[in-house]
Amino acid sequence: MTRALVTGITGQDGSYLADLLLAKGYEVHGLIRRSSSFNTSRIDHLYQDPHEPDGRFFLHYSDLTDSSSLVTWLNRIRPEEVYNLGAQSHVGVSFEMPEFTADTAGMGTLRLLEAIRHAEWPVRFYQAGSSEMFGKVVESPQTERTRFQPRSPYAVAKVFGHQMTIQYREAYGLFAANGILFNHESPRRGPTFVTRKITRGVAAILAGREQKLYLGNLDARRDWGYAPEYVEAMWRMLQQPEPDDFVIATGEMHSVREFVDDAFALAGLDWQQHVEIDARYFRPTEVDELCGDASKARTMIGWEPKTTFHALVRLMLEADLREAGLDPSRLLTAATR
Ligand code: NAP
Ligand code: GDD
Repeated sequence: MTRALVTGITGQDGSYLADLLLAKGYEVHGLIRRSSSFNTSRIDHLYQDPHEPDGRFFLHYSDLTDSSSLVTWLNRIRPEEVYNLGAQSHVGVSFEMPEFTADTAGMGTLRLLEAIRHAEWPVRFYQAGSSEMFGKVVESPQTERTRFQPRSPYAVAKVFGHQMTIQYREAYGLFAANGILFNHESPRRGPTFVTRKITRGVAAILAGREQKLYLGNLDARRDWGYAPEYVEAMWRMLQQPEPDDFVIATGEMHSVREFVDDAFALAGLDWQQHVEIDARYFRPTEVDELCGDASKARTMIGWEPKTTFHALVRLMLEADLREAGLDPSRLLTAATR
């Protein structure tokens, strides 16, 4: 049975990756941070009685800022695959907490790589890189060869993690792969990222709990895909004969305004009546547009996106309506709006 170690298992991607690996028959070990309140809601459905003899899902306390716990768990678990998904992952917050962001997203990657370098068994390593690294884009669409021009402390830290992953691959022969993932969303997306903020906001307005939704820059354009498909790409990267770097994206770009328009229209609402612009949500330096070319992933690892932009908006909105106690069948169909 293959053993995998996952950092960031309580996050959106970590939870979908755990679902996927368990379905493939893996033994899955996740590292979680100690928190004063429960932080495992996305993986509670995977909980198993620790006394169950054939249990395959385990959680351990650790932190990417704490190398000794990373080394300890790596050596106790002896995983064949390590997925590094943990990070302070909010771009806006990274301007407020640059040092912690760099410590988790940048130095945390180095700490794990260094622990793996000394492992006495072969380990395959996946690094959760980001399209944010392209920043002020120099060409469109972006590929694995596009130059990085990061525009936030988060993106700078991710560039460090990306380059360090290549460094360890080349210097020490580690099987270390970088994913360069464009934005991917789902009903498990954190509520302060813009897509989920919008779909939750629409549900709250429909439920009569809110009247207004406060947003920042509606002109930013992103390449939005569906998270469960993106974790499949991570796994595929570690099953290749040689480690490599891959862009994972849909190749389609939409503005925040389009996402807003689509979500409110599905609910039969006029967004202009409900959306207010709040300067708090603007960033000191913005990434205006991101659009990825995933041709290499299509050819080499057989990965391609399936969920369209409109289907993504709908599935997130349906889930948030259900969570708000509303019937999702009240959403309009494309033909009726
Ligand atoms: P997420 O939902 O914000 O999850 C981040 C995870 O990192 C959580 O489990 C969080 O734990 C954990 N974490 C935070 N600080 C940590 C620390 N000091 N030590 C250990 N773990 C820590 O992010 P996501 O959307 O799943 O993204 C997964 C990874 O992919 C991240 O590295 C992100 O930067 C990267 N990425 C995401 C996207 C995207 O569009 N989603 C695109 C490209 C790259 P708590 O639950 O305790 O906070
Ligand atoms: N969060 C947020 N909240 N963003 C807003 C808002 C708002 O109220 N209003 C407008 N935006 C704009 C942001 O300025 C940005 O241009 C865009 O919406 C997307 O913001 P986020 O959803 O926060 O995502 P992100 O693109 O900054 O970062 C996400 O994707 C990256 C991959 O490109 C995160 O998941 C990163 O961890 C990931 O690396």
